[in-house]
Amino acid sequence: MCGIIGYVGEPGSTDARSVVMQGLSSLEYRGYDSAGIALMNGHLEVYKAAGELSALEDRLESTPPESGAVGIGHTRWSTHGPPLEKNAHPHTDSEGRVAVVHNGIIENYQALRDELTASGIRFRSDTDTEVVPHLIGQYLEMGETPETAFRRAIGQLEGSYAIAAVFEDTETIYAARQDSPLVLGIGSGATYLASDVPAFIKHTNQVIYLEDGQFARLSAESVTVTDSAGNPVEMPVETVDWDPEAAGKSGYEHFMLKEINEQPAALRQCLRERVDELAGTVSCADLEGLETPGSVQFVACGTSYHAALFGAILLRERGIPAQAFLASEYVADRIPIDSETLVIGATQSGETADTMRALREANRAGATTLAVTNVVGSSAARACDHVFYIRAGPEIGVAATKTFASQQVALALIATHFDSGYDREIVRTLRDIPEQVQTVLDTSQARDIATEYEDAEAFFFIGRDYQYPVALEGALKMKEISYEHAEGFAAGELKHGPLALVTEETPVFAIVTGDGRDARKTVGNVKEVEARGAPVVAITDGRSDVERYADHVLAVPAAGKVGSAVIANVQLQLLAYWVANRLGRSIDKPRNLAKSVTVE
Ligand code: AGP
Repeated sequence: MCGIIGYVGEPGSTDARSVVMQGLSSLEYRGYDSAGIALMNGHLEVYKAAGELSALEDRLESTPPESGAVGIGHTRWSTHGPPLEKNAHPHTDSEGRVAVVHNGIIENYQALRDELTASGIRFRSDTDTEVVPHLIGQYLEMGETPETAFRRAIGQLEGSYAIAAVFEDTETIYAARQDSPLVLGIGSGATYLASDVPAFIKHTNQVIYLEDGQFARLSAESVTVTDSAGNPVEMPVETVDWDPEAAGKSGYEHFMLKEINEQPAALRQCLRERVDELAGTVSCADLEGLETPGSVQFVACGTSYHAALFGAILLRERGIPAQAFLASEYVADRIPIDSETLVIGATQSGETADTMRALREANRAGATTLAVTNVVGSSAARACDHVFYIRAGPEIGVAATKTFASQQVALALIATHFDSGYDREIVRTLRDIPEQVQTVLDTSQARDIATEYEDAEAFFFIGRDYQYPVALEGALKMKEISYEHAEGFAAGELKHGPLALVTEETPVFAIVTGDGRDARKTVGNVKEVEARGAPVVAITDGRSDVERYADHVLAVPAAGKVGSAVIANVQLQLLAYWVANRLGRSIDKPRNLAKSVTVE
């Protein structure tokens, strides 16, 4: 999704270009197809390029701009108009007096565009965004100040937006937000704004999360926040405890591999002060005041949906009726909701538009809402009645890895909390998970298996019960970063259709942990596959006899239910990573995908 960065340095300084460009590169993980910057040095200079940031760098090298103290930048993920230079942001008014960057969708742009065109304005792009600088320009023509022109233009917009504007001859940035993330940073003698904290974490960890409907005015010395009527609003300044190093690659070839390896630390962080080993209890301060619900509906997308499926199984096991919905398919009116219904939005970014829409509907329908998210102050955190942070730390790779593991553990904590909180076995299980994940990381043979099967026609993943969401997630990870065909199935469903796809060229990855009924049945499904000549890779703790029917084994330590699902998934993350690595794919920024999907 689009990324925004803005910077106001001390008058006379010339570092806007480098701060803005570095901020854009920290936002690359959000996914983009073109980029641009506007620098204010008395007059506005705008540079844009389609493609990667390196293309914009080349443009800047060939025409060195005069870099002043104020700048805005943008990485664009196309919604209106193809990824061409003319559609890249910033967009300006006809006179070049104001430059605007925008994340979101302006729903009434066509009507505004028609009106502006009728008044003689010529549009230079296909974007919805371009109406904004032209509206501002019209108000400037009428003699309004930049601030009033900005506010009046924003007042005409419908839809979602995080918008920043810089004016010629004005060492100030104006910004507004509605349903798209925007965070302000307060440094010493400089201020920042961005779609996400990593864009400026090198410079400051003092942040203000702008709320929907608010406006901000940034000068070198201060940040002023006002409501839609222009009244000043006192906003809390929060300290972000991410260290800048955590947003770098720390020597790993890819963020994804770094983040896979960070899982033991991330999980310890998630568990910290939430489990009491001596007492055998789970107690989560974040959930205080949240009664055990009569029923639970999860809304989530992609990897988070797989975590939600897992969470629903855990809750049902504890006697709480629970269902997971794809957020994009969720219609609150069609599902019974009463005051005892809890709707849980699982979303690592806290900004996913489909999930946000579903949560808002659930709120309106009278449900209690809980956000399970990684991002403090995110839209989901603020829209819900309650929030439970998974504390995974910044995740830069587009493919969710450590946030999935942290969601699994967080949902196990929540399920136990609702069930009296006392459960010696789950507390022991949870305590052991970080170490077990470390064991998998230290011993995994996934790289060799990836080498063996990198040319496969397709990859199939099967699992049952709590390993079913893991099978789905294994397939999503594989297709997302390797671009190879991969599918996840409930093991028992194979014979109802997918078995027709199974050949000698399609390895089947079977997750079989434990020695109970589910494991025995999945071994039966493995036999069906083996009989048809497909290579079988068992992800197993060795407690069943699946190894007899497998060509290869990816071993995991014996663990409890939740732990087995977390560690089996780590093997599949590594498998996907190494297949993609061997195929030379763009692992951290897979084609067509974005980290934070802020459009429906
Ligand atoms: C995960 O690898 C994907 N990039 C994607 O499916 C993601 O999980 C989905 O877009 C939901 O994101 P969220 O958790 O930030 O809401």
